[in-house]
Amino acid sequence: MLNGKTVLVSGAGGGIGRALVRCLREAGASVIGADRDADMLAGLDLAGTVLFDQSDAKATRAAVQLHLDENGAPDAVIANAGWTRAEIIEDLDDDVWDTELAINLNGAFALVDPVVAAMARQGRGSVVFISSVNALSHFGNPAYSAAKAGLIAYAKAIAVERGRDGVRANVVAPGSVRTPAWDHRLQADPSLLDRVLPHYPLGRMVSPEEVANAALFYCSPMSSGITGTVLPVDAGLTAGNLRFVDEVLRQ
Ligand SMILES: NC(=O)c1ccc[n+]([C@@H]2O[C@H](COP(=O)([O-])OP(=O)(O)OC[C@H]3O[C@@H](n4cnc5c(N)ncnc54)[C@H](O)[C@@H]3O)[C@@H](O)[C@H]2O)c1
Repeated sequence: MLNGKTVLVSGAGGGIGRALVRCLREAGASVIGADRDADMLAGLDLAGTVLFDQSDAKATRAAVQLHLDENGAPDAVIANAGWTRAEIIEDLDDDVWDTELAINLNGAFALVDPVVAAMARQGRGSVVFISSVNALSHFGNPAYSAAKAGLIAYAKAIAVERGRDGVRANVVAPGSVRTPAWDHRLQADPSLLDRVLPHYPLGRMVSPEEVANAALFYCSPMSSGITGTVLPVDAGLTAGNLRFVDEVLRQ
């Protein structure tokens, strides 16, 4: 499906990132892995690496621009790196807000903006943002959620303003996925996942591979007519409120 194509993936060393690399390689793509440091990318089947701290927009843009100058535009970019710790409004202050917006929104812009410019010059490209269900309804993590919602607006801007240049942009919005992103919560409460599952209509969380499959669809010609869209991969979470049905209506 992606034979001869190159895809740049940020956060490639994380839980979803590793599934993205595997899935893209199985589809025939060469993958350029980006992350904070080389250790994160150990063991991955990559055609190249780009290293930057996405909380530093200038460093991110410089590293990505250097890669583009040396290698040209990839056929697709998946902006997947993300991070949050502030769970609820009481955890916020100006510094926390700035930190979570810097990594999840400003850094994603610094990564994607030079790639889109290079794609537009070549007349083709697909941009995929890994956002979150948190961008669609409130499930906690307010600063992260604002950043993830910002990615949807940015994707729509690219879709509308760069469509005639052959560049598409779409968003995958995962529900809960058991990756290292959950480690700190599970260390604090090992039984936490038991309380997550009753919220999900499919009775389970989604897997990293299911998120990767949606991103693969957006990278591939299968989605050639699709741009500016948001695809929840959330085991039904945003379809409605299962606990309301179970606890209020189902007697
Ligand atoms: N796991 C979930 O429940 C879930 C749900 C919805 C959305 N997401 C999103 O999916 C994406 C991948 O998350 P994951 O679950 O694989 O998490 P993860 O923690 O396993 O991976 C995150 C990746 O991003 C990288 N990263 C974090 N901060 C960075 C920085 N400052 N500079 C460069 N790289 C940085 C990490 O090194 C890591 O490779 C994230 O954007 C996350 O917000 C995850």
